[in-house]
Amino acid sequence: MDKPTLLVVDDHEHILKQLSWALSNDFTVHTATSKEAAIAAIGREQPALMTVDLALGPDDSQRRQGFEVLQEALCVDPAMKVIVITSDQEEATAIEAVTLGAFDYFVKPLPLDDLRVALRRAAYLGNLHRQARGMAEPPQDDGTGMIGNSATMLTLRQRIRRVAATDLTALVLGESGVGKELVARAIANFSTRQNQPYVVVNCAAIPDTLLETELFGHEKGSFTGAHAQKKGKFELADHGTLFLDEIGDLNPELQAKLLRFLQERSIERLGSNRPIQLDVRIVAATNRDLERAVQDTRFREDLYYRLKVLPVRVPPLRERDDDVLVLARYFLEQLARDMHTPAKRLAHETEAALRRHQWPGNVRELENVVKSGAVTCRGAVISAKDLDLEPVVEPPRNLRLARDELERDLIERALRRNDGVISRAARDLSISRVTLYDLLTKHGLRVPTGDEKAQGY
Ligand SMILES: Nc1ncnc2c1ncn2[C@@H]1O[C@H](COP(=O)(O)OP(=O)(O)OP(=O)(O)O)[C@@H](O)[C@H]1O
Ligand SMILES: [Mg+2]
Repeated sequence: MDKPTLLVVDDHEHILKQLSWALSNDFTVHTATSKEAAIAAIGREQPALMTVDLALGPDDSQRRQGFEVLQEALCVDPAMKVIVITSDQEEATAIEAVTLGAFDYFVKPLPLDDLRVALRRAAYLGNLHRQARGMAEPPQDDGTGMIGNSATMLTLRQRIRRVAATDLTALVLGESGVGKELVARAIANFSTRQNQPYVVVNCAAIPDTLLETELFGHEKGSFTGAHAQKKGKFELADHGTLFLDEIGDLNPELQAKLLRFLQERSIERLGSNRPIQLDVRIVAATNRDLERAVQDTRFREDLYYRLKVLPVRVPPLRERDDDVLVLARYFLEQLARDMHTPAKRLAHETEAALRRHQWPGNVRELENVVKSGAVTCRGAVISAKDLDLEPVVEPPRNLRLARDELERDLIERALRRNDGVISRAARDLSISRVTLYDLLTKHGLRVPTGDEKAQGY
């Protein structure tokens, strides 16, 4: 197994030498002699462990630089285990550091054997902590390619299944970048037409003159340049699904033709008046306010009613609770897979900043910000600045609060993962059912009832 990485921060060269020599059998040791060097090394090496001399700094006025290194480390990686080192007159400062989240403290002169044991134990606990965090949020992809486990997304998934089970025209509505295309594809994938063609036409991307033949096809010689007969997308989608994206942009003439298809289930190629019967399910999507377009007579009312037989509203990101972080991590993994590099991680402050940011461009904007930030960020940990976001400075958390928070979080997730079934959640958390009940009471969490189970909680 790889040795855990340890960063030793001290401005006394002889201490660095001594520790490197004493600990290099058990750990891969990196060293730093200043606050700046330490912060750079934290980003670069992502150490699992760190020791830091609290009295770091050139003179007495700056004697809190050790604290700053500690806080930076925990901000970048809350699972990092930091052991602070102090001189014997300053034990009180060491205790202050522990309340800020340091794992342990040692007083100089250093008892090297004890320090080694403490570091080994820290490495073990840090691993557990990381595993718990990794397990906590497996991105859930149910074959739709849609990530997110918020209540809003669960409702959307149910709606998609229901709509897919029918053969009626569906209209996918939502702001720009919310995932309408993914939803349309999911409807087709879950329907009985799943093994039949799925044909996509973006009505806004094709010039009007071409769109008509694109959709309906043409006969040879029907216009200049029509050298051969061509089947349109309707025909190509026979027995399957035709996804008409950006339907709000369809011109009046094509609106009329689409309406005719929805009424008669047949089309005519350009240059022919022979109707061709087709078995095509239509799924349409738009980010426009179609009702308004109808009022402004830009969209046919009769077509609107035909299309919105089954409306599917895709909620914007701001209605999806914590999905932002799950999505951000998913995009980092996706990028890493595409680039064949290890996935970068989000600093603690970055997660807070991502959560707080308003995303007018929704999932697409989030994806762009996270991926381009990850590409330009030089280290392995992405700061808020890398993403051009205002960092959110959270007050340093005391150890007990941090532990409680993690405990509660893991319990809630285990319950959600196990549909609220206590015995399964307990097994997942490696605790007994009785203990889980106690913890539910401690955290004021409700014991799931049968009803909530059915909703997937
Ligand atoms: N729930 C999700 N999980 C994973 N990726 C998502 C999710 N929702 C959207 N995306 C991604 O976000 C981007 C935008 O999604 P999509 O193109 O489906 O949005 P849209 O609603 O059609 O946008 P527009 O109105 O601009 O056409 C895509 O790269 C898509 O893969
Ligand atoms: Mg789209």
